Amino acid sequence: MAIEDIKKGLAGVVVDYTAVSKVNPDTNSLLYRGYPVQELAAACSFEEVAYLLWNGELPTPEQLAGFTARERVGRALDPVVQQVIDALPTTSHPMDVCRTAVSVLGARHELAEDSSPEANLAKSVDLFAAMPAVVAYDQRRRRGQDVVAPRDDLDYSANFLWMTFGEDHAPEVIDAFNVSMILYAEHSFNASTFTARVITSSLSDLHSAVTGAIGALKGPLHGGANEAVMHTFDEIGIRSEESLDEAAARAKVWMEDALAKKKKVMGFGHRVYKHGDSRVPTMKAALDKMIAHYGRPELLGLYNGLETAMDAAKAIKPNLDYPTGPTYHLMGFDTPTFTPLFVASRITGWTAHIVEQAAANSLIRPLSAYNGVDERHVP
Ligand code: COA
Repeated sequence: MAIEDIKKGLAGVVVDYTAVSKVNPDTNSLLYRGYPVQELAAACSFEEVAYLLWNGELPTPEQLAGFTARERVGRALDPVVQQVIDALPTTSHPMDVCRTAVSVLGARHELAEDSSPEANLAKSVDLFAAMPAVVAYDQRRRRGQDVVAPRDDLDYSANFLWMTFGEDHAPEVIDAFNVSMILYAEHSFNASTFTARVITSSLSDLHSAVTGAIGALKGPLHGGANEAVMHTFDEIGIRSEESLDEAAARAKVWMEDALAKKKKVMGFGHRVYKHGDSRVPTMKAALDKMIAHYGRPELLGLYNGLETAMDAAKAIKPNLDYPTGPTYHLMGFDTPTFTPLFVASRITGWTAHIVEQAAANSLIRPLSAYNGVDERHVP
């Protein structure tokens, strides 16, 4: 086979249809079930967007009431999951904790071996409801804190922040968190979603597919980038006494040095978007509000300095992980918790794809071109 026939990384290969979302790099747009993601982020709760991804339509008020009531029932941390988390060292990565928790939830689910559309939808909603408790408790135990019980009077985002920090948050912080959840929810055939579809294609179960997807998301070329962005900020040095311009100047020097050393700078570039990520302007606006809310202009200086220097040197644009990293930092999340936040959101998109794959399945099994030693025989 000629080398040019091999599509390394499946770049440019269309492997199936999907009705869940449409990414259009030419018009820099992203649609969830036909709706521009920016409109959803401006007008909807994450619960409404989750409902949309699974059901194809935004909920009526009655449907939303039924759905949120169901979500609230599943919010408390499963005691067995808590025991398993407690058995893991606090040195283990939170993504490993997340992956393990999903696996435990799957093995304990009464519909574990039922992959009918109804069972898959029920399991999806259960996972969506259960994940905030897992992510929140894991961060808390690392800080020597106890589990916080969920609150029925709060929506998904407010309750997520409540269970993580055990305190109320300002409406603008809850709103920025809600926006991040909506923007992270779905993005067509990215590496983790494709992983989930591959696992589903063998007729395996939903929790196995999500567990595999979490493994794919962990890598810094994918979801792990939001965490890596914060490591970059830390390496440059966050100096709260510094002005925006001073911070920007230091970030510029750092970026020029990194690019001279041919480093890949996390939070920049995208396999599909080559002229900018459709989700970034909305998330950047949320970050700007958080910078103003917490009074931290020096973080904006680092952000601007890196972005401007990258643009000048290589014209590579930021991706969604670039503004979410500092946003989650400002909200008080520990850096290793950032990618589990992405998991809590993307569970909606992954499971919508799992249902879609199962409904029109074909085992995903590409071919390979052999380039090992020629046939030989055991002496
Ligand atoms: N920093 C520095 N250079 C970058 C870069 C980055 N973040 N992203 C791409 N480039 C450069 C590559 O070095 C390459 O340059 P070259 O042609 O001189 O070798 C060129 O841009 C093309 O990059 P390539 O890696 O082939 O593009 P891709 O489509 O395979 O990769 C990513 C897409 C996302 C894997 C890549 O941009 C990347 O590694 N980004 C950082 C990780 C990240 O933020 N991931 C989250 C994605 S949402």
